[in-house]
Amino acid sequence: MSPLRLTRTLPADATGADLRADVRQGLGHSPKTLPPKWFYDARGSALFEEITRLPEYYPTRAEREILRDRAAEIAAACGARTLVELGSGSSEKTRFLLDALPSLHSYLPVDVSESALTLAAEALLAERPALSVHALIADFTRGLVLPDTPGPRLVAFLGGTLGNLLPGERDVFLKSVRSLLRAGDSLLLGTDLVKDEATLVAAYDDAAGVTAAFNKNVLNVLNRELDADFDPDDFTHVARWDGEHEWIEMRLRARSGLTVKVRELDLAVTFEQGEELRTEVSAKFRKEGIRGELGVAGLELSRWWTDRAGRFALSLATPV
Ligand code: SAH
Ligand code: AVI
Repeated sequence: MSPLRLTRTLPADATGADLRADVRQGLGHSPKTLPPKWFYDARGSALFEEITRLPEYYPTRAEREILRDRAAEIAAACGARTLVELGSGSSEKTRFLLDALPSLHSYLPVDVSESALTLAAEALLAERPALSVHALIADFTRGLVLPDTPGPRLVAFLGGTLGNLLPGERDVFLKSVRSLLRAGDSLLLGTDLVKDEATLVAAYDDAAGVTAAFNKNVLNVLNRELDADFDPDDFTHVARWDGEHEWIEMRLRARSGLTVKVRELDLAVTFEQGEELRTEVSAKFRKEGIRGELGVAGLELSRWWTDRAGRFALSLATPV
């Protein structure tokens, strides 16, 4: 079995500096916001995996169905020798692609969550000793540089994580992905689709409370990393459909007026009773919107697949 290669492409303190900047910016202004990438410490990544198995959370099952049914078509269309996966998490669904690509040489999973990357990469290496796995701890919004591996390259961005970026961030991100692609390379993009509000809200407000725990986990991250004194019980989990922007918003609502100290930043953050902190948007898409966003980034939508129930889509795009 080849040894696991794990590369941290961020300077040692980049993550800490980013978190401090995001917290100063996001909690220092009204309305309060935090970027969703801070959910994913080891506990957050484990809670996300639990979410993927909830009866209400359909996106993972829908995307797995498409990958199971279409992996051979995807493989034939892209002929990839290198598979790069952004926000790879557990790499669980990725196995359909790994199995379908006959000439695959290298798999490069990229994630901010070191625990998710290590667990996933070790499991894959044990199953597929001949595969070269090079895991990158990196922030995919920060100008990725990839190791030199054989082409063609397939960049996969699954799970609907594109929807966790705001529209302006998506534009910058898709252009940066475009810059990673040469002629003959492809992007495989998973996106959740607009559907009825009840189904969407239930997926983000499950009966067992796992999504609530995932949402509140960001407060634990701030307590540990920045010596803050949030009590997660002081907040309630909110999941709301925004029909104008066509996204779900997750928020944390203060049960009462309170002040939180963020000692590392020498910051006192005051919440009024009922005040909400936005922790995530999860945009839902339509085919023409995806085609348009890809087009602006210099990518052409070449294939579009959905699950049988039409809940989730996989797009294949190529550089123009
Ligand atoms: N692709 C997997 C996991 C989705 S969860 C699936 O479909 O199930 C989102 C993943 O993206 C998490 O593992 C999280 O750690 C990672 N992530 C979120 N923001 C990121 C960023 N800015 N850079 C790199 N990884 C990020
Ligand atoms: C990772 N991402 C696509 C998930 C989503 O559905 O937006 C994160 C998540 N948030 C709440 N539940 C799952």
